[in-house]
Amino acid sequence: MPRIFVTRRIPDAGLQILNDTFGEEAVGVYPSDEMIPREDLLREVRGVEAIFLILTERMDAEAFDAAGPELKIVANMAVGYNNVDLVEATRRGVPITNTPGVLTDTTADLTWALLLAAARRIPESEVYLRDGQWKGWGPLQFLGTDVHGKTLGIFGMGRIGQAVALRAKGFGMPILYTNRNRIDAALESELNATYVDKETLLKKSDFLSIHCPFTDETRHSFGKDEFAAMKDSAYLINTSRGPVVNEAELVEALHNETIRGAALDVFEEEPKLARGLDQCPNAVIIPHLGSATFETRAKMATIAAENIVARLNGQVPPNCVNPEVF
Ligand code: DGY
Repeated sequence: MPRIFVTRRIPDAGLQILNDTFGEEAVGVYPSDEMIPREDLLREVRGVEAIFLILTERMDAEAFDAAGPELKIVANMAVGYNNVDLVEATRRGVPITNTPGVLTDTTADLTWALLLAAARRIPESEVYLRDGQWKGWGPLQFLGTDVHGKTLGIFGMGRIGQAVALRAKGFGMPILYTNRNRIDAALESELNATYVDKETLLKKSDFLSIHCPFTDETRHSFGKDEFAAMKDSAYLINTSRGPVVNEAELVEALHNETIRGAALDVFEEEPKLARGLDQCPNAVIIPHLGSATFETRAKMATIAAENIVARLNGQVPPNCVNPEVF
């Protein structure tokens, strides 16, 4: 019986570490690129010591019950871990780990890809071209919005927010940001960033990019009131977690042109989209690809596997998010 259960096919780099350390017979992998059905998850985790978890899988009281008392670690292959009931894990003394750091730049790159794609209407105009609708250059065709020199608002100035801000320097964009805490003055000046309240952020940003974690406090931080407070020429970009934005109200705002556009990598009820979102030409939508590069996914799988190795060898896993269990 496997000691470790991996809930999906993962990059070889991570699997190799587990196989080499514990032997292939100790490692069970759900052999699919699709999400494991809930009943299979509950069955497969029974009696294991470690779960290598993918962010689409919910690790809640029911799943902890199904796993049982042998469970020593859940290693989530993501920096966000809102799919895990942390209170429940801590109550049961199970350490949870994540994969911070390695996806910062990759996610920041994607944020910029989305921002530029929305501002310059890349997906929409590409479809037009591929559809054979283009009859030649036109002075009013697919006019977008300049990016350079505009004000970039950052909601959540953690590692990824800072990496996004750093990239704005090349576009000569001043940064406004809100965050739980102010970053230090030297970093503010390096990033050309000014700490403001949310009201100012909404009012002054030409592009507003969300980088906060998803918690009870940040749920629906952006809804109809926020969209109404934004410039009607502004764009919202979200590469954090879907539920930070009220997606139905965003569809409404896009439809009414309360704001000019949005670019989303994450959605409230993945893989579902809010009704009408796929019909909004002013929304760029992609399927949660923030960390999706060969290099970064290999690093994430490696980190998750290394945390399992550490824990099953009796050490404190290096990326534990609930260290109070030790
Ligand atoms: C994460 O790690 O939280 C990302 O959303 C994965 O792309």
